[in-house]
Amino acid sequence: MIRIAPTRILLPAALLAVLGVTVLGQPGGPPTLIVQTDKPGADVAKAMYGVFFEDINFAADGGLYPERVKNRSFEFPDPLMAWYKSAGSGGSFAVRTDGAPSARNTRYVRIQADGPAPYGIMNMGFRGMGVLENADYRFSLLARRAPGSKPVALRAELQNTRGQALGSLRLEGFGDTWQRYEGTLKSARTDTRARLALFLESAGALDVDVVSLFPAETFKGRPNGLRSDIAQLLADLQPGFIRFPGGCIVEGRYLDLRYDWKETVADLADRRILINRWNDEFMHRAAPDYFQSFGLGFYEYFQFAEDVGAEPLPILSCGIACQFNSGELAPMEDIGPYIQDALDLIEFANGDVKTTWGARRAALGHPAPFHLKYIGVGNEQWGPQYVERYKAFEQVLLAKHPEVQIVSGAGPFPDGEEFDYLWKELRQLKPALVDEHYYRPPSWFLENASRYDGYPRTGPKVFAGEYAAHAGQQSDGPNRSTWEAALSEAAFITGLERNADIVRLASYAPLLAHLDAWQWAPNLIWFDNLRAYGTPSYYVQQVFSRNKGTHVVPVLARGEPVTGQQGLYASAVVDELAGEVVVKVVNTAGFGRNVRVELGRAATRAGRAIVMASDPAAVNSLAEPRRVAPREEVLPVAGAALTRELPAHSLTVLRVPVR
Ligand code: AHR
Repeated sequence: MIRIAPTRILLPAALLAVLGVTVLGQPGGPPTLIVQTDKPGADVAKAMYGVFFEDINFAADGGLYPERVKNRSFEFPDPLMAWYKSAGSGGSFAVRTDGAPSARNTRYVRIQADGPAPYGIMNMGFRGMGVLENADYRFSLLARRAPGSKPVALRAELQNTRGQALGSLRLEGFGDTWQRYEGTLKSARTDTRARLALFLESAGALDVDVVSLFPAETFKGRPNGLRSDIAQLLADLQPGFIRFPGGCIVEGRYLDLRYDWKETVADLADRRILINRWNDEFMHRAAPDYFQSFGLGFYEYFQFAEDVGAEPLPILSCGIACQFNSGELAPMEDIGPYIQDALDLIEFANGDVKTTWGARRAALGHPAPFHLKYIGVGNEQWGPQYVERYKAFEQVLLAKHPEVQIVSGAGPFPDGEEFDYLWKELRQLKPALVDEHYYRPPSWFLENASRYDGYPRTGPKVFAGEYAAHAGQQSDGPNRSTWEAALSEAAFITGLERNADIVRLASYAPLLAHLDAWQWAPNLIWFDNLRAYGTPSYYVQQVFSRNKGTHVVPVLARGEPVTGQQGLYASAVVDELAGEVVVKVVNTAGFGRNVRVELGRAATRAGRAIVMASDPAAVNSLAEPRRVAPREEVLPVAGAALTRELPAHSLTVLRVPVR
């Protein structure tokens, strides 16, 4: 492939004029952007730039939720999926249900060793287990000595792919009723594909269940917490909100496979697993071992949102299964329990500890409320059946919880008959926000930088809830997350920001993908069992989120918003807290050029420029995680204007302190 290096050739405006390109400044001079700092407009929502979390691409189990043992409770439909005989032939193991630990956790495994050689089973994790040299891992399990067995000792051993021990621990003294046992394992070496073996060291039988290997270090040290490197990447976005748990996963292929948040706020051992809808959604990326353990459940989502200072934004089933699948409908006379789920969720998040669900929150460790302000009704639903169900939710939610803003869907597509129909209907109702989705090529994002300039200024606001520029082919996986795609998103986001009066929230989607187990691309962050990196789109999100300012101000070229003239896109805000004017300019042209920026106020001192520029085909990777990433430099400014060179294919943020 021929790489086009970012060029520093500066084309004079006169030449551009000859080429028939509109010239934004004086003929012969650089394009001029006029920032109307004295005309602050709408506030930029504090929560404006958030993240969309869905358990797709092994984002939860195998990703952000750092449990190393897959199928830890033997509750997958194939109870021994991910489990194998470990070593030795002197014994057997079997799945059993008699005398299981609880009615919600109905299966366990009996390991029977004939002795004297060790005999046992092993778990292969999520395409292996990531372990770091010298790091501590908490091993735990529910166990009981099988009836009639002699006392036995259990060795838990971390092994590399050749079966060599990386670390081990020994547990003994098992009683004849179910109890939890635990210890700490340390790995002698770093390995991304380790496995966990359980051996009985002498003749006897042991019943085991809920076998867990969890890193001792989690994000913010939370018990049952999150994988710290991935969580930190998310925290570094300074997200204004966290939308969870999806996406299509909310809806389910059939209604009984929908995401039921109540199932996820039980004791860990009692959270019933559910097939992940991405298990077999795409046959070209089938993942037969993809289930939801709900170890990362609604309590953990709320806790994470709080830990990173983001608003929680849960989306619930509205009684319609995914319309790309069955489209199964809960009849209107049976919609009550779905609405009750929403009411109960508000109680779980905000209710007093004396209420049923407030008490559940407190029992899980958080007596204080989570201050839920948003709730989503349905994901990508469409048609009159959605409007009818949405109305029923709205009527009850507005009456009982006017303080909580309702988010409605607008279907899966950014335009078309269904989209127009939904907006027409929703304008007559009272959702606070309408969730629009757009997965489109980079050209669409460039063409739609002015999408919201003409939107009605009254009625529901917009939640740009799922978007990503799709360049290249699905089979390219991580190679689809190019700078070309990210730059077109940046151009589009200038349009979101310019219209911050009606676009109140925005999130890229999907968020996370396991390099060895993904179903969908592109994604914001890729990871393996130990490492993670942000794509160019990740850094675009980060740049906008960290520079969102407090109020929009117009930025004009020849009296017009800058929405693609000469390949330039721009938005501007003032940051009243920092006392700065912040101008974002995207240059999609394949050449560098100067722009003059008139700030409307004199700079009080030098500013900062934050620049992203690269070859459009460039991607980040584990080997080069910051190949496309922002760099920051001092921005000298004297007076109320500056001239700045914009590199080819670049996003530049200019932050200037003003009086
Ligand atoms: O982000 C991936 C999927 O795209 C989401 O689950 C769904 O809402 C959309 O179709």
